[in-house]
Amino acid sequence: MPEMLINAEPSENPADKIVRHAALLSEHLQARREQMYPPKAEKTLRYFMTNEVSKLTSIPESTLKLMSNEGKGPHPARLENNHRAYTLAQINELRQFFAEQRPTDALRFQPHRRKDEHLQILAVANFKGGSAKTTTSAHLAHYLALHGYRVLAIDLDPQASLSAMFGAQPEMDVQQNETIYAALRYDADRKPIKDIIRPTYFTGIDLIPGNIEVMEYEHETPRVLAERSSGSQDIFFERLRLCISEVEEDYDVVILDTPPSLGFLTLGAIYAATGLLVTVHPAMLDVMSMNQFLLMMGDLISVIRNAGAVMRQDFLRYIVTRHDPNDQSQVHVVSMLRHLFDDDVLTPTAIESAAIETAGLAKRTLYELESGNVAAATAKRARESVDAVNERILALISESWGRT
Ligand SMILES: Nc1ncnc2c1ncn2[C@@H]1O[C@H](COP(=O)(O)OP(=O)(O)OP(=O)(O)O)[C@@H](O)[C@H]1O
Ligand SMILES: [Mg+2]
Repeated sequence: MPEMLINAEPSENPADKIVRHAALLSEHLQARREQMYPPKAEKTLRYFMTNEVSKLTSIPESTLKLMSNEGKGPHPARLENNHRAYTLAQINELRQFFAEQRPTDALRFQPHRRKDEHLQILAVANFKGGSAKTTTSAHLAHYLALHGYRVLAIDLDPQASLSAMFGAQPEMDVQQNETIYAALRYDADRKPIKDIIRPTYFTGIDLIPGNIEVMEYEHETPRVLAERSSGSQDIFFERLRLCISEVEEDYDVVILDTPPSLGFLTLGAIYAATGLLVTVHPAMLDVMSMNQFLLMMGDLISVIRNAGAVMRQDFLRYIVTRHDPNDQSQVHVVSMLRHLFDDDVLTPTAIESAAIETAGLAKRTLYELESGNVAAATAKRARESVDAVNERILALISESWGRT
């Protein structure tokens, strides 16, 4: 009998087929996932070559080579081809070294915020699923850390995709009372935020991971609000802001990746934010969904204001994501957005790119790719696009600090 007839039983009915197909597909996807991202694999950050270090730090390549030859500063590893390879920690050592050597120019080398510059809390939001909130959050976090900023990334999404990108698998690596819920909860098991912050493999970025537990906050908050007598309660939407302020000194920028819903956590994030980034895929359905989001947000902002609270945001920007500039319908949507919202739509856009998607499947950002991971030209184009978006966001942060 020919082989194909053994698998496909002629008498199989559609219902049985669904069961068989589900098992087949699950097995196939699981195998693929394990191949791309072995469950036990510890994430590590790649090395950076001299030219890249020079670009990131504005220290000339010749100076870096001279220092290394003279044994000054960090000792980069040598690759087989004898090229120098620096870790991000070593790049930060260089920053520190130059900042101390040249105090008048210190900020250029080590851009940490100064006493009179406030912590920037950026909420990446839009309740439309798949608008690239997590991708945007991860790329921004990596970009800022590569440029010497101290970043805290907080995963407010029960799906925990951001945590997974930082190597914290929500089902395996995040236990009970280890998510932001632990710091926000209303009962005696509440923990200080310091206790749930974990360092990541990406030097300069700390993480508060998420998993399904963060949903608890959505259930508990309305119950607590109903139970408590008015007046004695701390205002629920201030909780996130208050707990972030416990660790304010340790960071320059906090990035909040929100879930595709407008619940109490997202509300807390919008209230805590000093900068709001609304990601939008330029398709009409997405824009209609964003309209709902903005209307609901408007209502919630009124609630916050009526409670006597003040919102202190430095900026709001729409970021066009998964942008295909050759798609005519997208061109229309983007020009409509720019017409309506003007400069509030970020000029650079994040282009739709196979490089970003492929990296995402391996739980990576473009910043983690070694050459050879994806077709070089594709990766370069995507990287330029994402760099431009992040550069603009960093400029907004710098402006809010009064830096020119
Ligand atoms: N510029 C891009 N080019 C190609 N694919 C992209 C791009 N940005 C994001 N993606 C892919 O789109 C999918 C959705 O992105 P992402 O998870 O960041 O969206 P999200 O808004 O966080 O979703 P959710 O609402 O479920 O949290 C992912 O598979 C991601 O890899
Ligand atoms: Mg997400």
